[in-house]
Amino acid sequence: MLGMDVYWVDGKFMAEDQAVISVKDIALLRGYGVFDFMRTYGRRPFFLGAHIDRLLNSAGHIGLQIPYSKDEIYRIVEETIARNPDLPEANVRIVFTGGISSDGVCPEGKGKLIVYVTHKHELPAWWYTDGAKVITVDVERYIPEAKSTNYMNAVMANMKAKEEEAIEALYVDRNGRILEGTTTNVYFVRDKRLITPKADLLEGITRTVILNRLAIRDFFEVELRDIHRSELSDMDEMFVSASNKEIVPIVRVNDLVIGKGVPGASTKEIMRLFRAYTDGYGRGLNLE
Ligand SMILES: Cc1ncc(COP(=O)(O)O)c(C=O)c1O
Repeated sequence: MLGMDVYWVDGKFMAEDQAVISVKDIALLRGYGVFDFMRTYGRRPFFLGAHIDRLLNSAGHIGLQIPYSKDEIYRIVEETIARNPDLPEANVRIVFTGGISSDGVCPEGKGKLIVYVTHKHELPAWWYTDGAKVITVDVERYIPEAKSTNYMNAVMANMKAKEEEAIEALYVDRNGRILEGTTTNVYFVRDKRLITPKADLLEGITRTVILNRLAIRDFFEVELRDIHRSELSDMDEMFVSASNKEIVPIVRVNDLVIGKGVPGASTKEIMRLFRAYTDGYGRGLNLE
């Protein structure tokens, strides 16, 4: 079992190759389930409490009952990390499935809690130094406030992004509003204002940290509002944020170059503040 990660599945710890659930689970058949994702800094799961709150909230949005308390899930995640001592830093996923259902549709309270940690996924350094490209897709998420196991839109949009040498796809709704990426939140800088969409999106934990924990208000006026796709050409800078990606400067949307086509000074400053914050978190500071 050397080198194999240890997972929690439905009450037991097991090696990853033993970690299985029923093919009859409606998470598989219907995409009915919820999950959350975070990473560690200094082996401390970043804002674990907030991620569990969001998991419970996602479940509430789709009418799924989770028979575990926040404290129980907290302890299971901590123990799963402890049982994987060889991982210097980890990605952590918490999944709660819809469970087996006799009619194949209606949940019957048999959902499974799964917690697993894996090696932290490293992303290319050039994304952060040179900035990356994103595309837009005309897609509206169903119940965008929920992080559900139904992410088919995200899978398809990412395949399209890859074809176009982009690292992410942004959802644009029928009214031309740019809402968020498939697994990221999006931000713009214009005239010392930091602008980010306000509603109809998943409130990223990274977004909450950027908006509420960093000293950005010393530098920027923050605007939470709708952003129309026609505004893209007016923006000076742009970036996306997510637990696994942290802050990635964006220099191109489809064929449009943003600002000067390189990561902007404000974006770099926010990246620096975020790095200082997460470094502190990894050293036991900046408690949640
Ligand atoms: C749709 C969506 N928006 C935004 C995010 C970013 O959230 P976080 O910063 O908590 O990773 C995610 C995360 O996966 C997501 O799925």
